[in-house]
Amino acid sequence: MKILVATGKIEKYKTGGAILLIFEEGILGQTVRRVDESLGGMISRLIERGDFKAKPGVAQLLYPTRGMAAERLAITGLGKRSDFTMNRLRQAAGKAASLLRTAGATDIAVSVDGIDQDLEDIGQAIAEGCILGLYRFLKYKTIDENDRSRDIQTTTLLVDRGSSIGALQEGVAAGMVIADSTVFVRDMVNSPPGDMTPTIIAAKAREVARQFGLKLQVLERNHMDKLGMGALLGVASGSAQPPKFIIIEYRRGGKKPFIALVGKTITFDSGGISIKPAENMEKMKDDMSGGAAVLGAVRTAAALNLPLNIVGLLPATENMPGGNAYKPGDVLRTFSGKTIEIVNTDAEGRLILSDALAYACRYEPRVIVDIATLTGACRVALGQEASGMLGNNEELKQKIRDAGEKTGERVWELPLWEGYYDSIKSDIADMKNAGGRDGGAITAAALLSKFVQKYPWVHLDIAATAWTDKDRPYTPKGATGMGMRLLTQFLRDYDKKV
Ligand code: BES
Ligand code: MN
Ligand code: ZN
Repeated sequence: MKILVATGKIEKYKTGGAILLIFEEGILGQTVRRVDESLGGMISRLIERGDFKAKPGVAQLLYPTRGMAAERLAITGLGKRSDFTMNRLRQAAGKAASLLRTAGATDIAVSVDGIDQDLEDIGQAIAEGCILGLYRFLKYKTIDENDRSRDIQTTTLLVDRGSSIGALQEGVAAGMVIADSTVFVRDMVNSPPGDMTPTIIAAKAREVARQFGLKLQVLERNHMDKLGMGALLGVASGSAQPPKFIIIEYRRGGKKPFIALVGKTITFDSGGISIKPAENMEKMKDDMSGGAAVLGAVRTAAALNLPLNIVGLLPATENMPGGNAYKPGDVLRTFSGKTIEIVNTDAEGRLILSDALAYACRYEPRVIVDIATLTGACRVALGQEASGMLGNNEELKQKIRDAGEKTGERVWELPLWEGYYDSIKSDIADMKNAGGRDGGAITAAALLSKFVQKYPWVHLDIAATAWTDKDRPYTPKGATGMGMRLLTQFLRDYDKKV
């Protein structure tokens, strides 16, 4: 989809679908008032009658017969002006764009006058909202070309004043890059597990590396064996698919130390010998969402030319119950030298991460951020409105929190107090890999914290947020791409002076 910025009046603009953004307080903006007048007061009448409430996420389709050049008009709510956030704008744009596509529009135009905010941010949010709201995963649908062409080809952001165009365009450009990587991540996560094996993910990483001139290293089983990555290899032992340890480096930060991003990349989690119930097991293809988000964020950092050094680490394997599989009762020796007693082979994420986090320390990084679909317990704790955040450094946690608020990929902190460590004590090894039901998201993070040495570290549990079973304003059901925009925002703001 092309996204253009132009000057003009929305009521005069010939398009398949015009979008008007409306605040809850009624018609305040000049543009909306003008359009309303041109439509003989139709919009104000809808609002006065209560037929249209400009709540966030609400959109309504109208077919003006005169007073407007557009074939269709989508009016969409932004909520209260005082509660405005960029995420609401993203939601409004996404909702309206998909409504117009369903109706048959193949080009749309959004009026961006009347929002008193940074124009670059506005351009970015609308671009992201439209692209992400229109996202579909069609690779496995045998629909014909005609059907496919019903995509929206062009979105135009319309402004009154020519002076606003430059800033809007900057924002649109960034938004397009960020949305494109989010689509990249969603596509990976939505793909069937047989078509997104560790080998295929390594090939994807190679493509990214080639496209942006990044350094890529893929460690094979024998290399991991030599290094002593017993945790990752233990998890991989039940699988016929060879594991890969993917290391992708982006270097544009001169002498700055690395920022290490670590993503759980289990391409299918059957649970292993501690096998999962059949119901919903197909969703366990999303267990590589963390790795996909990391690869997406490195890709975006490169596309945006961020002045940073970043290393992305993706420990990639299936978790399967093969004849060679690791078993409850086994003790694995990790890359760090610490040993872990296995009490549940379904607690495999923390195992592969323990090796990857220890490997990250080799870089003497300024910070480590790991992201993982780690625990069902995190969903019980926070639902789908926030990802879990745990860590050992206040400044870093605040940076992640801020990025979450900006992107709408929000996080909420859970505590990592001393007492929680009791439940991962083992009688025969340095620790055990599962601590029971209580505080499951926390005890999982407690184990991870043993592998980051002194480095500032944050763990993000996206088990509940990487996937959605219901359509949301700019997140159709399926993979959400969670973490890609969050990590990207974190990186963009990293060295910015406050
Ligand atoms: N990949 C799962 C966590 C998960 C659950 C992700 C639901 C997405 C949706 C993880 O490997 C797992 O199985 N965790 C166990 C840990 C338990 C055995 C200690 C869990 O959450 O039940
Ligand atoms: Mn598991
Ligand atoms: Zn898992």
